[in-house]
Amino acid sequence: MVASPSKNQIHNKVQAERKETILTPRFYTTDFAEMASMDITDTKADFEAILQEFKADYNRRHFQRDQDFNQSWDHLSDRIKEIFRNFLEGSCTSEFSGFLLYKEIAVKMKEKNPLVAEIFSLMSRDEARHAGFLNKAMQDFNMTLDLSNMSQTKNYVYFKPKFIFYATYLSEKIGYWRYIKIFQHLDANPEHQIYPIFKFFESWCQDESRHGDFCNLLLKSQPQFLNDWKAKLWCRFFLLSVLATMYLNDICNRSEFYEAIGLNTKEYVHSVLIDTNRDAAKAFPVILDLENPKFWTHLEKCVENNAVLSKVASSSLPKPLKFMQKLPYYIGNGWELVQMYFMKPIEITKGIVL
Ligand SMILES: [Fe+2]
Ligand SMILES: [Fe+2]
Repeated sequence: MVASPSKNQIHNKVQAERKETILTPRFYTTDFAEMASMDITDTKADFEAILQEFKADYNRRHFQRDQDFNQSWDHLSDRIKEIFRNFLEGSCTSEFSGFLLYKEIAVKMKEKNPLVAEIFSLMSRDEARHAGFLNKAMQDFNMTLDLSNMSQTKNYVYFKPKFIFYATYLSEKIGYWRYIKIFQHLDANPEHQIYPIFKFFESWCQDESRHGDFCNLLLKSQPQFLNDWKAKLWCRFFLLSVLATMYLNDICNRSEFYEAIGLNTKEYVHSVLIDTNRDAAKAFPVILDLENPKFWTHLEKCVENNAVLSKVASSSLPKPLKFMQKLPYYIGNGWELVQMYFMKPIEITKGIVL
């Protein structure tokens, strides 16, 4: 007898067929030998203090499903379920990507730099918990992610260690602001609390904040990553990449999710970008000027371009014709990003409080 596919199998299949885009969460790898040879002598005491924080493991008992999960979600419409699946899948993939990277760094650094390796290992513990909790939630919506298969089949993007530190600092801090703002909104508006996972975000985001503080310390321990003109250009590049990706992803792909939980997507994403940019000043020598209205005008132009790109992508035109129709809008997005990159940034003077 040939077994018919279960609901889970159906959704696994759909998930596997979902196309990767520039906005899809990525997996990263780096030069582990260079990372392991970092000299942290001047900041050793700070690393030891942060290790104690991680060892305290404040969220050890936090990620346990309570009785609020023990119910059917059939009262939610199919559309809302699909929206939740997309949100959970994206979040789970990001958390799992963090787990893999931190775990590998911990293993490869262990011999030469055991102190930093232990912190990375504890950070991967947190990310594994986050990914596991999200994956469990996906089962409530008849979907699971095969994480071990994903780690073998995904393409890895290579970044030098200093770029890994810029990127992870920003992704941890933006993760903190995303989670805390959803928690605060639902805490103030409990009628929109349509699924219990959001109640967990308050303590959860404290993990992300600690991770960000550790990445900040890694950067501070290597002043050569921060104190020249190249560092300023790269920090601007990473900041713009992270903020623009979040903006476009939220406005173009996740608006329905935010609206399903009663959030105004634009207000939410604006505030996340502004707070993340302000946090960047704690680590980076330069940040973006988000008070310049032109920054937002350029982003909106990208949103308009993306709307056309999606329309062409879903049309029945043959591939070469689709590409020709898309090309001017890809170029248009690139041009908007270049203009944002060259807008006058805000230089951070040591000791400034924003
Ligand atoms: Fe996480
Ligand atoms: Fe994290």
